[in-house]
Amino acid sequence: MNTHRIAAIPGDGIGVPVTEAALAVAAASGARLEVTRFDWSCETYLATGAMMPADGIDTLRGFDAIFLGAVGWPAKVPDSVSLHGLLLPIRKAFAQYANVRPHRLLPGVEGPLRRTDFDILCVRENTEGEYSGAGGRVHVGTRDEVAVETAIFTRHGVERILRFGFEQARRRRGKLASVTKSNAQKHTMVFWDEMTDRVAADYPDIEVTRYHIDAMCARMVMAPESLDVVVASNLFGDILTDLGAAIQGGLGFAASANVNPERSAPSMFEPVHGSAPDIVGKGAANPLATILSCALLLRYALQRDDLANRVEDAVQKALDEGLRTPDIAAGEPSCTTDELGAAVLKHLSS
Ligand code: NAD
Ligand code: IPM
Ligand code: MN
Repeated sequence: MNTHRIAAIPGDGIGVPVTEAALAVAAASGARLEVTRFDWSCETYLATGAMMPADGIDTLRGFDAIFLGAVGWPAKVPDSVSLHGLLLPIRKAFAQYANVRPHRLLPGVEGPLRRTDFDILCVRENTEGEYSGAGGRVHVGTRDEVAVETAIFTRHGVERILRFGFEQARRRRGKLASVTKSNAQKHTMVFWDEMTDRVAADYPDIEVTRYHIDAMCARMVMAPESLDVVVASNLFGDILTDLGAAIQGGLGFAASANVNPERSAPSMFEPVHGSAPDIVGKGAANPLATILSCALLLRYALQRDDLANRVEDAVQKALDEGLRTPDIAAGEPSCTTDELGAAVLKHLSS
């Protein structure tokens, strides 16, 4: 069996304990992993003036996959600095253009919706769009101040994320929802709709429906079972996947894979949630989103569906035992971060 080299960046806040829980699960998953930890975080920024060393991207390039906890500690470092110094450059430098975020309600977990039989795969464009970083400010601090942030949609970028979405739909239930706001944004979003039609011509077996982002938000709450693969731009996908997390029982369950489908550089795996400064140090963080991201690493980076399924089964068994961190407990929480992680480990090893 090959040894896979994993770079782990626990980052800030609850990123640290949930990454440790997930790495313990990864080590027991049956995959042969060699993990190298990098302590890059807001503390690194305060100590060195940068979130990661100047050769950080080059260092990561040599790994088979990257595992990340969370980045950001707004009380110490502005988010606009920390995220643009670590998380976002990795996604762009390694062409991790497909951000895959599954949303389904695990048996026994209580979500806020009446309908529980949904299984949505959000495919979020991850390298351009509203996150292109193109823009600037002039006349700063004066009454004439202007701020511009330009969304950039390239033919290459839009086509490749749509194709990725269609391929996922083919492996699932054959339905693709393309999300835009083409009734209001007449350049970029009309372009996206046109590209959807063009790519759809190569996938006559896939049922395609276009939705506007506002209507999609309502649909994810009112009729989530009607959705299969949902493809959206960077910002729309970001917002939809916190909504997806909410309907699956909370951010503590939402996993995420930043995939480079061509495998020309490492992919990165991380929970959807952030560093949660409001609960840090209390043992209250739910580690399952990160543990389930580890399952995505096994599935997408190592292509070991068998091991990913084992991890997901162990998560289910821990939930079946009744273990609940405070974020998902109906009443009194029954466990801490470490206890839930240990229960998943126990079921993985038994
Ligand atoms: P957040 O996701 O950190 O927290 C939102 C709410 O959800 C908080 O109340 C938090 O306690 C709760 N929560 C999140 N994850 C949880 C878990 N695993 N278990 C239990 N409760 C959980 O979002 P935020 O508060 O907007 O952001 C905090 C920081 O994290 C900011 O610096 C932000 O930019 C950053 N952030 C980073 C990432 C990332 O690294 N991928 C993602 C989102 C936010
Ligand atoms: C996410 C996060 C990031 C994003 C932030 C922290 C820049 O919210 O991964 O969903 O918007 O992509
Ligand atoms: Mn987000």
